Amino acid sequence: QNYTERYRPQFHFTPAKNWMNDPNGLIYHEGTYHLFYQHNPGGISWGAMSWGHATSSDLVHWEHQPVALLARGYPDNITEMFFSGTAVFDAQNTSGFGSGDKAPLVAMYTSHYPVAQTLPSGKTVDANQQSQSIAYSLDDGMTWTTYDSVNPVILNPPEEYSDQIHDFRDPAVLWHEENQRWVSVMSLPGLRKLLIYTSTNLKDWELVSEFGPVNAIGGVWECPSMFPLPLDGGEELKWVVQISLNPGGPAGNTGSGTQYVVGQFDGTTFTPDANSVTQSNWVDWGPDFYAALTFSGLPVEDRVDIAWMTNLRYGGATPTDPWRSAFTVPRRLSLKTTNGKATLIQEPILGDADYSSTHWDILPAGSTKLDFTGKALDIVLSFSESESTQFSIIVQASSDLSEQTQVGYDFEKKEVFVNRTVSGVSGFDDTFAGVFSAPLESVEGKVILRVLVDWSSVEVFGGAGEVTLASLIFPSDESSDVYLFSTGGSTNDIEVKAANIKSVWV
Ligand code: FRU
Repeated sequence: QNYTERYRPQFHFTPAKNWMNDPNGLIYHEGTYHLFYQHNPGGISWGAMSWGHATSSDLVHWEHQPVALLARGYPDNITEMFFSGTAVFDAQNTSGFGSGDKAPLVAMYTSHYPVAQTLPSGKTVDANQQSQSIAYSLDDGMTWTTYDSVNPVILNPPEEYSDQIHDFRDPAVLWHEENQRWVSVMSLPGLRKLLIYTSTNLKDWELVSEFGPVNAIGGVWECPSMFPLPLDGGEELKWVVQISLNPGGPAGNTGSGTQYVVGQFDGTTFTPDANSVTQSNWVDWGPDFYAALTFSGLPVEDRVDIAWMTNLRYGGATPTDPWRSAFTVPRRLSLKTTNGKATLIQEPILGDADYSSTHWDILPAGSTKLDFTGKALDIVLSFSESESTQFSIIVQASSDLSEQTQVGYDFEKKEVFVNRTVSGVSGFDDTFAGVFSAPLESVEGKVILRVLVDWSSVEVFGGAGEVTLASLIFPSDESSDVYLFSTGGSTNDIEVKAANIKSVWV
């Protein structure tokens, strides 16, 4: 297999074949990055949810591994699906799953039970109940054993939410050093509420607090996670809660999205900063960023986020075959005080490439064709405010420009935008062909946009990475021209630094 099918991302992670949704159990351990993901091994649509698996030594090149947790009873008589969750290294063997001096990796995930049953542990579940379970690995994440004698470790939501047993999911575990406790954050999606539990052994969990609803609540809350980050690269740590919601994403996007809230966490309670709960903070302003999760097992300043690059509106209908869905490139996160507010900054992680630069003192109104083409590109574009009202780069363009994807900046609205109205195939969803935007201030009149173009996506990082937009596109094979476009007048001081990005699969 050489990963050259139509629309196949060249440097974004995809399963070799079949369906993928959320990233799960991201962990760096013993020199290896493990990527698990929601996967249907039996088809190109959602179903038979299992944990797919891939490994990497550099976050760029991935090696596909056997399914790590296969839906129980697969394929014909499924009694348990492995929904989203996370993984941690239990270095002190608090769980007792370790053997000799081998400490275990422990995964905590949602068990979704399609049928009512009495489990091997003797516990009884309702049809379509969701509970939280654990599994462990004694071979550094390659194979996993579910804790069947006790699972699920959290059978039901708290008493007062007992009507939510069918919607209780997505545990995200972390070790809280100061309290010497495991902490797990999970969601009551329908109530837009997070529940925080703690444990000393990853097996016995106690509810200690709740968070939400706050900010964007236009849809269900899923895939929550919480992590610390240094503020402004200093000693002070802030905590970030990342929450996916569906629908109710950023304006212009009628589907799903991902928000974050910054605050303090004392080991039991998350207290948001006052200025982080006055409005929605979008992790990504594009239409295609969901279920984002960061790696465990990395130093506190090395926080890497990966999202499922699609929208719940049409995630099941995108025109790819024999796989469906890609992940965003891994993004290194930091927190920077901007206008008095702790703001997420994101930087993409890519492999090496040969860049070349071109500079223009001035470009007139209209289009300028660039002397390179490509469908897998990293482009860093900068320009300065002058006469024009908008300045943009057009990628994946056909020779007559009838098909194109435009990424640019509107000086009047002070917004970065992605226009995919004529980007190619879009008929699978009536809102796909849209324009998406994010607020961005120029710095002394200068704007910087980094645009990652792949065979079926554009990911844009605005400014220093304080806003990003991930968007799928499905252009024709021949559309590989690149243009600059100045609207309403000339633009000054333009620089394009670009490289073709090689396939990470060869
Ligand atoms: C989000 C989600 C999660 C759930 C998983 C099931 O896309 O709905 O809440 O655990 O997908 O595949």
